[in-house]
Amino acid sequence: MRVSIIGGGGLVGSCTGFALQAGGVVGEINLIDVNGDLCRGQALDLLHGAPLAADQRIRATGYEAIPETDLVCITAGLRRKPDESRLDLINRNVELFLKILDDVIAAGLRPDAVVVVVSNPVDVLTYLATKRTGLPPSQVIGLGTMLDSSRFRGLIAQDLGLPPTQVTATILGEHGDSMVPLWSAAQAAGLPLEKFPGWSASKAEELFQRTKGSGAEVIKLKGGAGFAVGMSIREVIHAVALDSRRILPVSSLVSGPYGMQEVCISVPTVVGSGGVRAQLELELWPKEVSALQQSARVLRETIDLVLTSNPNAAKAAVGRGASGAGQASGGGRGGLPSPSANGQAVRVTMGSGGSAVGGRPRVTISGQSGGGRGGY
Ligand code: 2OP
Repeated sequence: MRVSIIGGGGLVGSCTGFALQAGGVVGEINLIDVNGDLCRGQALDLLHGAPLAADQRIRATGYEAIPETDLVCITAGLRRKPDESRLDLINRNVELFLKILDDVIAAGLRPDAVVVVVSNPVDVLTYLATKRTGLPPSQVIGLGTMLDSSRFRGLIAQDLGLPPTQVTATILGEHGDSMVPLWSAAQAAGLPLEKFPGWSASKAEELFQRTKGSGAEVIKLKGGAGFAVGMSIREVIHAVALDSRRILPVSSLVSGPYGMQEVCISVPTVVGSGGVRAQLELELWPKEVSALQQSARVLRETIDLVLTSNPNAAKAAVGRGASGAGQASGGGRGGLPSPSANGQAVRVTMGSGGSAVGGRPRVTISGQSGGGRGGY
């Protein structure tokens, strides 16, 4: 897979490049950045380590790489000030982001390319990218709460003295102040967290608050995130490259799951070749569902605010005309993959939920059938 990282000279972009090099899965890593020297320096530094990593093509380049790029990752953006919320960033970053998008489109973004948005506020910019590129919504993925979930797991593991890879704890919703911790599913070594010594409700709240503030904490200490966000981005890119159908908390256009409409937000998402393969509407605690819906409202209000205050954003939201079956719209398929040639988009309800018989949790999977190892 050929990956181009726009913002590849910066901290997030170069750490992503290093994570992809260490992962050895993708065949080509193009670093693109307005700061040419910095970009060339990062690429050279990566090249020096290549003999110890993998046989990949790594270079600093320009937008001429876009037509042959399979996955475009956009990390470029102005950094948040320590006391600034991500959403406060929006006015400074929307203009820059839309300019980048237009340059990518003009350079020849392929209709089958996947776009991974990292720039903040990531959920709002993912929405604008979905509309502006005109790609099927399933091909535009925001990093969402991938990084938050990794931070959450790392902080829980450190506090309880557990192996980080054995702690599973997910955060959904906005990559921002309204993010939602899923305590209903938090585990370590397959056991609920409350089974472990030292766990308490106050501990849970303390760790979640620290997770939520981790972006600002890292900015204060070292100017911004790099290593963890690079690894989080690699998880998403590898899931696409390997078609691994991993279920990741990433952001994409949803209009349906948990009753959320026309917003980009992190829900459990099956990621594989071509991007989003399915969005899972798993049964959560009622308070988790309402918090998720509140997060969607915060994001929708922000999108509306941006569209009314920023003419370029409003124009972008109209999209590039009706291109592609997945052109998102209010009444759209909610960002789900359109029926593929080899399988119809299906709505599979396994088990039963709510009012259904048996009272077992309801899992509704909507997406493409066939080709998946998990049935999606
Ligand atoms: C963070 O949370 C960069 O938004 C990212 O650090």
